[in-house]
Amino acid sequence: MCGIVGYTGKNDAYPIVVKGLHRLEYRGYDSAGVALMRDGIQLFKCKGKVSDLEDHVGKSDTSGSAGIGHTRWATHGPPNDANAHPHMSMSGELVLIHNGIIENYDSIKKELQQRGYEFQSDTDTEVLVNLIEEIKKQEEMSLSTAVRRALKEVIGAYAIVVMSKNEPGTLVAARKSSPLVVGLGGDGDFYVASDATPIVEYTKNVVYLEDGEIAELHPDHEMKLFNIKEQKVTPFIQELELHLEQLEKGGYDHFMLKEIYEQPRSVRDSMRGRLSINKGIVQLGGIADYEQKLINAQRIIIVACGTSWHAGLVGEYLIEDLARIPVEVEYASEFRYRNPIITEKDVVIAISQSGETADTLAALELAKSKGATILGVCNVVGSSIARTTHGGSYTHAGPEIGVASTKAFTAQVTVLTLMALMLGNRKGTIDRSRFQRLLLGLDAIPDKIERALQTNELVEKISAKFKDARNFLYLGRGYCFPVALEGALKLKEISYIHAEGYPAAEMKHGPIALIDEEMPVVVIATKGPSYEKVVSNIQEVKARKGVIIAIVTEGDTQVKEMADYTIEIPEIEEMFTPLVASIPLQLLSYHIAVMRECNVDQPRNLAKSVTVE
Ligand code: M6R
Repeated sequence: MCGIVGYTGKNDAYPIVVKGLHRLEYRGYDSAGVALMRDGIQLFKCKGKVSDLEDHVGKSDTSGSAGIGHTRWATHGPPNDANAHPHMSMSGELVLIHNGIIENYDSIKKELQQRGYEFQSDTDTEVLVNLIEEIKKQEEMSLSTAVRRALKEVIGAYAIVVMSKNEPGTLVAARKSSPLVVGLGGDGDFYVASDATPIVEYTKNVVYLEDGEIAELHPDHEMKLFNIKEQKVTPFIQELELHLEQLEKGGYDHFMLKEIYEQPRSVRDSMRGRLSINKGIVQLGGIADYEQKLINAQRIIIVACGTSWHAGLVGEYLIEDLARIPVEVEYASEFRYRNPIITEKDVVIAISQSGETADTLAALELAKSKGATILGVCNVVGSSIARTTHGGSYTHAGPEIGVASTKAFTAQVTVLTLMALMLGNRKGTIDRSRFQRLLLGLDAIPDKIERALQTNELVEKISAKFKDARNFLYLGRGYCFPVALEGALKLKEISYIHAEGYPAAEMKHGPIALIDEEMPVVVIATKGPSYEKVVSNIQEVKARKGVIIAIVTEGDTQVKEMADYTIEIPEIEEMFTPLVASIPLQLLSYHIAVMRECNVDQPRNLAKSVTVE
């Protein structure tokens, strides 16, 4: 996590860097800081958000045409002023920002301490900047050479940008396992950031750094790029597809609400060019070369974290149901460390909105090293996971800024649905008429999401009744079980109310003991094969005085009679329920969080992109 941004060119760096930090704040918001090059290095940093940093800077002189900035998600040391980046070397010659973790920082720190270095912070980053200083002190060398040599001694993950007061105007940027992108401005200016969002309004020409690469950026000079072996590399310049309006709230109070409302469009975009009703086909270009491999796979293993893991569960149900290929869904963080059995006959699919989640990336790399075919379902184009995989399908949901995943989830489920349909059709496990019926059903989903969004007012009223609840239970069966898990995660992460998702039938094996008149129980009770069973589960809750909030199919009467509150969604094929039933649950968590005055887009302790283990 952490967001880093840098600029060098003809303009003042401060406004560019601070604006960039606002865009990157989704990556962490424990502290923020900037360093500007002007007759030496000017440093401003403090605990808190980027707006706190702006208050802290106040009316100070912020001129200087090179600068770096950082917004932190704390790993080493608590969020405080001292641990905020940028970090300066002891002599004050160098200043550095860092996203990642230096695993061997402790041993390097001890060596440096023996040489007389003193440290102001608890961070691994301050160790790195002093290591560069120490190397640079030993013989005459450029900043970029010293950075390259220092990085050879470092174990861990990093994206860094360094400035030296002896080389004003030069930025040295490097990455390993943490993302970094360089923007090439038209006037010979350079921008560097954790992702392209701080860059897009200045230039569309970018270079995504590869692992081990180091860039030397100096205005009016060509970008110099080296690999860790100190060989020159030709930068691969790409054109950004990102648009500025996608990064703004567009009249909504929060990014999360905007993103919830974008779902009819984002789900449509996930299907665009992939589903053709007229031709009766589904095609996913990015995995076309691996179709046979998927069909013949001994197993498909889905690896993911958080919301993306919930999408993976839906994917398991879909692929097993439609294509009859065995699927396992694994938490990436468990999979990578539990010595799993992986063979060349396995296909491992990573699901990740950011494409940067450290555990998911590591799980993929493990699978790749064992000979498995690895595919990705990512939202961020050009992300590390997208570049590591053999093939994959982008979700095309557009940038998701709110920390709580909403449109990314429905887009992931849409892509997995397309994948399952495509495989089932090719394999012949779905007959032609069912296939055609499902294509029509899927094509109609954006309109059904639109109708589900019309429950907003009702959901807001229901939210008001439960905003002070201390616990929530979410229940669902079949395709609605992952929806229950996702609904509970949404509530807990943004409103800080404890919530659990359970398969409805599991309730009687433990959680039923929690039920009393204080316990709201959200049940996804839409029409489908397990409807009657869910009705029985609702009765079990009612018998113990639990309060039921039920998501039902339009026109339902049976559940309506039993439930305390019902929210109707349009009738849909059971397997598409996650795409529509999650909408009122997203709204429920959103309204409860707003009523509790929580920071919806930036919930405490969280970050959008989890690039640490
Ligand atoms: O970027 P990813 O999809 O790999 O992120 C995985 C999780 O951190 C993420 O889904 C998280 O659980 C959500 N932001 C929760 O809403």
